[in-house]
Amino acid sequence: MQAPILLSGTSNEPLALAVGKTLNISLGKIEIGRFTDTECRVRVMEEVSGRNVFVLQSLSMIADQNLVELCLIGQALRQLKAEKITAIIPWMGYSKQDKEFRPGEAVSAQLIATFLEAAGFNSVITVELHSEMITPYFHIPIKELSTHSLFAKELKKRNKTNIVVVSPDMGGKSRSEKFAHEVNLPIVYLEKKRDRTTGEVVVTSVSQDVSGKNIVIFDDIINTGATVIKTSEFLKAHGAGNIYFMATHAVLAGDAAKKLADSTIDEIVVTDSIHLPKEKMFSKLSVISVAQTIADDIITP
Ligand code: R5P
Repeated sequence: MQAPILLSGTSNEPLALAVGKTLNISLGKIEIGRFTDTECRVRVMEEVSGRNVFVLQSLSMIADQNLVELCLIGQALRQLKAEKITAIIPWMGYSKQDKEFRPGEAVSAQLIATFLEAAGFNSVITVELHSEMITPYFHIPIKELSTHSLFAKELKKRNKTNIVVVSPDMGGKSRSEKFAHEVNLPIVYLEKKRDRTTGEVVVTSVSQDVSGKNIVIFDDIINTGATVIKTSEFLKAHGAGNIYFMATHAVLAGDAAKKLADSTIDEIVVTDSIHLPKEKMFSKLSVISVAQTIADDIITP
């Protein structure tokens, strides 16, 4: 059987290279550039006819551009008669708006599914989706890879006792419960409110006493950093010990990295689903890789 072809968009080439290295294949040849008016231009220079092709692209900042780039690659592969085209989207951008929270709002998560199908992709592999509402928007197969066991291993390395899992909000309840089950630890629930217009976050209550406890929080995204900062301040004010915040996707929008570096959180662990430039790294932040998880799924779907 021929090896799969792996192409990379421009959003996360380091991860694509790491996946290729694990599979012992080089990245396929592709030219991605821009016309002088900034429109994206894509040319696939690999012999893909009849082949099984994977395209890795995170829909990270700037999501609009990375999405169009991915769709253009899909269309080029379809024209070149690739047999099967799979989009590997480690971070599914535009997924936060997964329903109409307020009347008149567009449901971006649904439209992304439509775009990918229209571009010619036959299937999608993604990592830790923002919510369970997103998968049904796809009419092509979509597989969500979990990062639970990666983070569970990280937690074990910390070798901490007297530790509880804290669910940061009701939206993340089921994710946190699955993680607590994986790491075999008790769970405590926070109630968090976010102002839909300003984005301001307030933690309103905790289900149990956390004084003297070490805490691990498992979330999907760190976006503005408000959830990390406010939960950590709240838990410390209630007597918590060390707080480890583990999140799959480090969006780190705006000055989030600086705010997190200056915050009361003890440690943050994220994955490389989104490529983090050097200027967004800080001493409390460590990055683990999802390359092996993705590569395993390519070999054994
Ligand atoms: C909430 O629904 C999510 O699971 C995350 O907690 C949230 O998106 C993180 O965003 P931010 O970093 O802006 O608080």
